[in-house]
Amino acid sequence: MKKTVTIVLAIVLALTLIGCTPSTGDTGPKQLVVGYAQLGHESDWRVGCSESVKAAVAAAGWKLEFVDADQKQDEQIKALRDFITMNVDYIAFSPVVESGWDEVMQEIKEAGIPVVMLDRNIDMANREDYFEAWIGADFIEEGKKAANWLIDYMEAEGRGNDEINIVELQGTVGSSPANDRMKGFADTLASKSNYKIIMTQTGNFETDLGKTVMESFLKSGERIDVLFAHNDNMALGAIQAIEEAGLVPGVDIIIIGVDAIKLAFEEIIAGRMNVTVECTPLLGPKLVETIQKLIAGQPVPKTLNPDEYVYDMYFYNNAEEELPNRVY
Ligand code: AHR
Repeated sequence: MKKTVTIVLAIVLALTLIGCTPSTGDTGPKQLVVGYAQLGHESDWRVGCSESVKAAVAAAGWKLEFVDADQKQDEQIKALRDFITMNVDYIAFSPVVESGWDEVMQEIKEAGIPVVMLDRNIDMANREDYFEAWIGADFIEEGKKAANWLIDYMEAEGRGNDEINIVELQGTVGSSPANDRMKGFADTLASKSNYKIIMTQTGNFETDLGKTVMESFLKSGERIDVLFAHNDNMALGAIQAIEEAGLVPGVDIIIIGVDAIKLAFEEIIAGRMNVTVECTPLLGPKLVETIQKLIAGQPVPKTLNPDEYVYDMYFYNNAEEELPNRVY
């Protein structure tokens, strides 16, 4: 009897690991279902992230219920509630903003569905009680890297003591990458009184809005030395605005982006952009690995920050050498 129980348990574990859960009916093993509440498709980064999750979940042999919430919090909350109704096996969740999730996270917890946070995080009391793991970048660190690159660059150019006017294109208001990149960048420059952030406004992580906001910065008549864009797509939009204003992007205005998308590498190599701080969207394989460990009852780290690098054509990792390896 004991031997039979052991064999049955071994079969259940094997099926689970290959992506199936035993069925209560007679239609064979049930496919494991992951519900992914993606926040939108606002940037090349986001599209790369969705593709990474779709490919990894398909390769694991699982079913993906995918919702693109078009940057709307109420759409994401609806998607999460639909996943509860569907009784999916796991929920993956990239929240558009940090706050306002308390009620729905409580509902998921009560439904007993394990959650893996992907990319952005939530801000609520005892948040770690509501998810198994968070897989995403250290956004404060990304802001610090951007500021440190600028300090190194200005010193190398012999401009370390000049008055430097910076404009900032923020990401989505209330989102963790916008909040944290802004903080990491400003805190790092706080001790340097010659670096001033003279204008800062959201471009919602979108190329078109990045262009529109940069146009308004340029129309202000202030001298602008540096643009810090919270993502590459807004930097790309700003480059168009700078060129249309008759200035030379990358020369008249130093341009710092975040994400390290292919298009930014091309701009850096062409000299129209100066640097990009990597934020990898390739989170699908880590999501699958985490769920596999949870299924097998193995411990998973509560926080998993992927390794990320800085790419330029000066003194960090060389953008030209890296371009052929980029997948997003
Ligand atoms: O949350 C990650 C950020 O979201 C990326 O930097 C940005 O491009 C995206 O929209």
